[in-house]
Amino acid sequence: MSEKISVSLRVNGRDYTVTVAPNARLLDVLRDELLLTGTKEGCDIGECGACTVIMDGKAVNSCLVLAASAAGKEITTIEGLEQGGRLHPLQEAFMQHNALQCGFCTPGMIMSAKALLDQNPHPTRAEIKTAIAGNLCRCTGYEQIVDAIEEAAEKVGPKKI
Ligand code: FES
Ligand code: FES
Repeated sequence: MSEKISVSLRVNGRDYTVTVAPNARLLDVLRDELLLTGTKEGCDIGECGACTVIMDGKAVNSCLVLAASAAGKEITTIEGLEQGGRLHPLQEAFMQHNALQCGFCTPGMIMSAKALLDQNPHPTRAEIKTAIAGNLCRCTGYEQIVDAIEEAAEKVGPKKI
């Protein structure tokens, strides 16, 4: 393996510098170096969405992003959503709607939903379904997830006129 490299990352508003292999993925750094294990490792090939984080405002599969290429970008993980000990409205809504069972897909689902609501505070159900199309859930059947995101949108976004 070639020599390790130093990578500086900004995650959940904090700056980190890690020394990693040049081919280390963002997912590896988040989980193994920063111990932010809320981001899940599923398929490793960009198919399941369990590893979804937000990078510079866009939902990305962190298993497909080299850590080095994430340097200087603003990264948010599920751990970055609570503010002052309060859960994000998306997290609250997922609990209220029973939008999770085993919970493995949940961080990725919520990060995809957050990226959507940041761009489009009042999505239609179809837009919500499109936004989470890359996130697989084996437990819930998706309807409760869409319901939860719809409700969170009511709380997060400005009212439509
Ligand atoms: S682990 Fe990244 S998409 Fe499945
Ligand atoms: S809640 Fe189990 S995979 Fe979605």
